[in-house]
Amino acid sequence: MKNKILITSALPYANGPIHLGHLAGCYLPGDIYYRYQKLRKRDAIHICGTDENGIPITIEAEKLGKSPQELVDNYHEKIRKSFEAFGIVHDNFSRTSTPLHHKNARDFFTRIYEKKYIVNKTIKQYFCPRCNRFLADRYIEGTCPYCDSKEARGDQCESCGRWLDPENLVSPGCKICGGTPVLKETKHWYFRLDVMQPQLEKWLLKKDNWKNNVKKFCKGWFKEGLEPRAITRDLTWGIPVPLKEAKGKVLYVWFDAPIGYISSTMEWAQRIGKPDRWKDYWLDSETRLIHFIGKDNIVFHAMVWPAMLMAHGDFVLPSEIPANEFLNIKGGKFSTSRRKAIWLQDTLELFDPDLMRYALAVNLPENKDTEFDWNDFQSKVNNELANILGNFINRTVSFIKSNYSSRVPLCKALSNEDNKMLHFLDETKKSMEEKIEKFELKKGIKTLMDLAKAANRYFDKEKPWETKRNAPEKCANTINTCIQVTDALASLMEPYLPFTSKKILKILNIEKNEWNRVGIPRIPGNKEIGKVEILFRKVENEIITLQKEKIGEEEKKMADRISIDEFKKVELKVAVVESAEKIENAQKLTKIIVDIGGEKRQIVAGIAENYSPEELVGKKIIVIANLAPAKIRGVDSNGMLLAATKDNKLTLLTIDKDIDSGAKVS
Ligand code: MF3
Ligand code: ZN
Repeated sequence: MKNKILITSALPYANGPIHLGHLAGCYLPGDIYYRYQKLRKRDAIHICGTDENGIPITIEAEKLGKSPQELVDNYHEKIRKSFEAFGIVHDNFSRTSTPLHHKNARDFFTRIYEKKYIVNKTIKQYFCPRCNRFLADRYIEGTCPYCDSKEARGDQCESCGRWLDPENLVSPGCKICGGTPVLKETKHWYFRLDVMQPQLEKWLLKKDNWKNNVKKFCKGWFKEGLEPRAITRDLTWGIPVPLKEAKGKVLYVWFDAPIGYISSTMEWAQRIGKPDRWKDYWLDSETRLIHFIGKDNIVFHAMVWPAMLMAHGDFVLPSEIPANEFLNIKGGKFSTSRRKAIWLQDTLELFDPDLMRYALAVNLPENKDTEFDWNDFQSKVNNELANILGNFINRTVSFIKSNYSSRVPLCKALSNEDNKMLHFLDETKKSMEEKIEKFELKKGIKTLMDLAKAANRYFDKEKPWETKRNAPEKCANTINTCIQVTDALASLMEPYLPFTSKKILKILNIEKNEWNRVGIPRIPGNKEIGKVEILFRKVENEIITLQKEKIGEEEKKMADRISIDEFKKVELKVAVVESAEKIENAQKLTKIIVDIGGEKRQIVAGIAENYSPEELVGKKIIVIANLAPAKIRGVDSNGMLLAATKDNKLTLLTIDKDIDSGAKVS
């Protein structure tokens, strides 16, 4: 076993809060794994930070009418705080907007440029004339040529995970205005993935212990043959390309972001006052570099990033890429941009973090997509955490409190049953080690719960409440054993349930967990234990009902919202009513002729009960000028007037100060 472990979790975009899908995808697994390695006293660090460049940021900023800087400042802080509250431990949590990172990304580019792994090409790229910009990545959407998903983006289809070029999209459209893009010339810099392919293939071939999802993806790409990929963008937000002739271009976010792992490690080294310490990890080929990611990140971590590292030459290559599938909610994928999600910060206001950590851990999408369901969450907390794990610890500690004045009874001679129970601790530990080392974290927590179940069975079978009266020595042995089990549970659960583990340590009056001592009793007889505390409060029905209702509300609000560009499509103009007459046999309808800056239009409107024809003539009103013509009761109507209505009342919208007809309203 190599002894240096550099663990990274995908840098989350600072364009929205963290949701449960993110957590199950990589942040919780990364944290469990890291905590476990630290408990085993390995030389491990966990590195992360926010991903603050690129189009995911500018799109969201535009949507909210904020500057990208404001947006990333806000979300960097929010994400950092919610990770902390959820017990995700990072040695360093940086951001890709730091000067250090900008420099690293530029240097990285320059290095591989000088080694001739980057070439430029003048190409035709989609350009939106209405928005006056080139459309790359998330600015362009269309149908995926591979899986037919309607929401494929210019750089990737999230549905099938394919890496795309905007040119591949079927019926592309501008994401901002919905307009149809045209092709226009621009110059970009390409990374020669084609040149890297043989090296990459050779390297990946040796990774036979990797997860199937990762291997399958890579094989597919190799078969098609890798091609040079553009690593620059026409954008003003991001890291400027360090070349004179690339004015106005920035690095593609997926080029700079993974370099952020290195930058964040450097920042960590500086922060702890050992500025060279990052080299021990990144410049040593013996380091195990482990990237925790979600499946939509596979192509970048298993192909592009290793190729970048190979081209650069100085740094260690990834040794494992445990990529999870997706955690979904009813009716589909979590989506930050569409605000379809259960947000971490909301759950933190309602539940102890360990409840969610548990529910996610037993349901990790390790090999296939899984679904998060609030009822399921409730039953896991109530029936498993509270009734099994919490119950065992609670009955043990309560027993000591009421029968032994809060002092652990001395143990004399252990029975077979006691020994079996203690032996099971060691077995559980070994079995958990085996699973966690293989990134089978779901199995790890299940193994822990098996121990809690066995402990309850042991307690039931030994009946200390009876032996207390008729065989006090046996009772003492049983309870002493149970407290050793409780202690072991605290150590073994720490990677998964760190907050509960801490609570148990407090009850047991001990300082810290010792993974390597699990199975060797370490709580001495006579030790006084602390206050009994309920470890897991049951989750009530009402709160679950509320949570279920919340899903979808925000998404709906978001979906109903329109952008300024969408609004601008509606052509509103001031018009003056020239003539008006009621329409026969239609009680509510009036036909009016308006003048819109010299142009005459006939409009049919449902205002007959509120305005007489005489009243209307001469009024300056507001009309929608670009509404598609229609026939209403057989009469042509070419436009629509604006009126406010409430409770059968209706009033026309007019103007405040006089202005000529034809004036634009916006
Ligand atoms: N921000 C990306 C995402 O959320 C992940 C970036 S991982 C890194 O999908 F390697 F590029 F940093
Ligand atoms: Zn557009």
